[in-house]
Amino acid sequence: MPLPQLRLPHLAAGVTLLLLACGDLPRNAPESAGPAAEDAASFAAARERMVADQIEARGVRDARVLAALRRVPRHEFVPERDRARAYRDGPLPIGHGQTISQPYVVAVMTELAAPGPRDRVLEIGTGSGYQAALLAELAGEVYSIEIVEPLAERATATLERLGYEVHVRHGDGYRGWPEKAPFDAIVVTAAPERVPPALLEQLAEGGRLVIPVGDLYQELEVHRRTAEGIEVERVFAVRFVPMTGEAQER
Ligand SMILES: C[S@@+](CC[C@H](N)C(=O)[O-])C[C@H]1O[C@@H](n2cnc3c(N)ncnc32)[C@H](O)[C@@H]1O
Repeated sequence: MPLPQLRLPHLAAGVTLLLLACGDLPRNAPESAGPAAEDAASFAAARERMVADQIEARGVRDARVLAALRRVPRHEFVPERDRARAYRDGPLPIGHGQTISQPYVVAVMTELAAPGPRDRVLEIGTGSGYQAALLAELAGEVYSIEIVEPLAERATATLERLGYEVHVRHGDGYRGWPEKAPFDAIVVTAAPERVPPALLEQLAEGGRLVIPVGDLYQELEVHRRTAEGIEVERVFAVRFVPMTGEAQER
């Protein structure tokens, strides 16, 4: 199963050190305030380390994005048995052959999408709901499409339980969500071999489409709609699960 793993050869040594630094969460807090409070404090500390060591240290600077990453409880979006690993520097399985992406990749994609407080944002590939929750912290309205029905159902339940208002739809995101277009930002978290034309059509002027494009290995691309047309920027190599459904039939 291909996992969404960032490949930055020049960071390899640093990444190894970070992995060594990100051990199991501390479980033995002094003077118990109850197991739930201990867990909450441990997860908060792990989240703070994740943001500082994996994200800020690698150059993500947007203060709103960093603050949102500090708020969203990533451990709530992974299966119970993996909660202690939720803040580690890598993707994790979420069932059905799918993954929650590496925190750094989620952060970079969010920074590139630059969701403003009044923006309408579309995500393709809800997965666990983590990226959608982050977008909901930053944008005005968030829509998200997931092709695997049990994942769409679980993400909807998780987002509701945590109080995030995200409109999740089960279906193929290849053609976007035309009834809700145009979008100020579209974030795609599964890789098609070519950019789906409907997603470009559904970008508002000034809108940003952040998408991994390619076969086994992909480039993370940003497509910006300007008054003159579409501008494309290639950011770096990434590895995401493939976009399934219509994208694979074409
Ligand atoms: C890397 S995972 C998503 C991670 C997710 N954003 C998160 O925060 O957990 C990619 C997701 O895209 C979904 N997916 C793949 N092809 C899709 C398609 N055509 N339409 C909608 N979702 C799709 C997969 O089922 C998978 O859940």
